[in-house]
Amino acid sequence: MIAHRQQSFDLTPYTIPTHVAIIMDGNGRWARQRGLPRQAGHRAGAENLRRIVSACVEFGVKILTIYAFSTENWGRPESEVRGLMKIFARVLDQEIHDLHAQGVCLHHLGDLTGIDPSLQAKVRRALEMTKENDRLILNVAFNYGGRAEILHAVRQMLADGLAPEDLTEGLFSSYLFTAGLPDPDIVVRTSGELRISNFLIWQAAYAEYYPTPAFWPDFDREELYKAIVAYNQRERRFGMVTE
Ligand code: FPP
Repeated sequence: MIAHRQQSFDLTPYTIPTHVAIIMDGNGRWARQRGLPRQAGHRAGAENLRRIVSACVEFGVKILTIYAFSTENWGRPESEVRGLMKIFARVLDQEIHDLHAQGVCLHHLGDLTGIDPSLQAKVRRALEMTKENDRLILNVAFNYGGRAEILHAVRQMLADGLAPEDLTEGLFSSYLFTAGLPDPDIVVRTSGELRISNFLIWQAAYAEYYPTPAFWPDFDREELYKAIVAYNQRERRFGMVTE
């Protein structure tokens, strides 16, 4: 066996973003480039998720939010949707043990109703299994849409009988799927696309946006390191001015 030593990155000069959000894009193009079916790209994407979770734990990122399946993704061919669900089920059955061992606490963002009941059960079991872990919170946006999330929050606030004057940004945030978590510091989008695609549209209001040409299966530990370096070169003003 060839011992594989990982390249070491010096992160001491840098502020590590607490919350990294990623739009994992480009699985299909990664596969096409290699003459492979799209499903092979999604499988490679799932493998890469494992690597990026480990890199986040190693680098000290506390929260990773990934866009796994949007409310719009139901519009893909049925065979592709089925293939994606199969991958999610496998990750929840098999890889969850490794995630658990790494101290990952899984959260779900989105709506589970309408999802195959056996997959729902796997999600619930994984949430329960990992709920006490605190090294990395992994938010999986699955059957998620930012507008749907905001509508869901508003409906909930009305159902709770809140009056207009009760509403604050903090209270509103507490009705979102990310309740209690800090907003993302950086939103990465792989594969060179320059859209937000209904992802964390409330929470990412002041996030640094980092598009990269790498396809998601190629977005490795070094790419994550480069994203952190780029994040450190940004000047976050939150709408204010610098002295
Ligand atoms: C984008 O590629 C990716 C997705 C549709 C999300 C699915 C993500 C994975 C399977 C990665 C692993 C995730 C989990 C939760 C196990 P695309 O099909 O949009 O690529 P394209 O734009 O090149 O066609």
